[in-house]
Amino acid sequence: MRIFLDTANIDEIRQAAKLGVISGVTTNPSLMAKEGRCDLKDVIQEITSIVDGPISAEVLSSDPVDMIEEAQQISSWSPNVVVKIPVSAAGLEAISVLSRKEISTNMTLCFSLNQAILGAVAGATYVSPFVGRLDDIGHDGMALVAEIVEVFEYYGFSSQVIAASIRHPLHCVEAARAGAHIATVPYRVLMQMIEHPLTERGMSLFAADWQRIARGSSQ
Ligand code: E4P
Repeated sequence: MRIFLDTANIDEIRQAAKLGVISGVTTNPSLMAKEGRCDLKDVIQEITSIVDGPISAEVLSSDPVDMIEEAQQISSWSPNVVVKIPVSAAGLEAISVLSRKEISTNMTLCFSLNQAILGAVAGATYVSPFVGRLDDIGHDGMALVAEIVEVFEYYGFSSQVIAASIRHPLHCVEAARAGAHIATVPYRVLMQMIEHPLTERGMSLFAADWQRIARGSSQ
């Protein structure tokens, strides 16, 4: 499973990129607003200068013709840009046209297997089921990821599944076990994935034992 970072925060992207574990970034209008930024092109180009991998930027239009026009603009910013398009009739129309033009798309706000199938058939490069938001309303978000992976494999669909709306490290474990191609994770969750109390305790013990033996040998 590959890891994308789900943020529009440039500092977080710089920090995470140093770890060598991030192979893409996803943004959305809410993540942009959180950073107080509305210069999407600048933000996306800054991100592409840090991470060499797919960077998702979302369209804001709702009409298919406008969506296609906006998507073409967005995809011209860098060869790594992926255009994020919400599931809707307009969105599917745009995805199918963009797919024929070989423009990469990420079908976002996916909450059902039917939506995912339609996205794959329309030619979406990525399909993003939102795990956390489904969990929030009492549905099993990760079960949807597993269903999508199974059906895509069965039919040989080429769309990759991005487990999105990840809220905690257990979601990452479950996404990997469900066979998601990618999990897009907030920076906080990425840091939590690294941590384990036994690793910290082990490191303290190693350091203390080393200090003790080093002190003894110098006496
Ligand atoms: C995915 O591409 C979305 O940007 C993101 O995962 C949404 O997550 P949220 O439900 O935490 O806003």
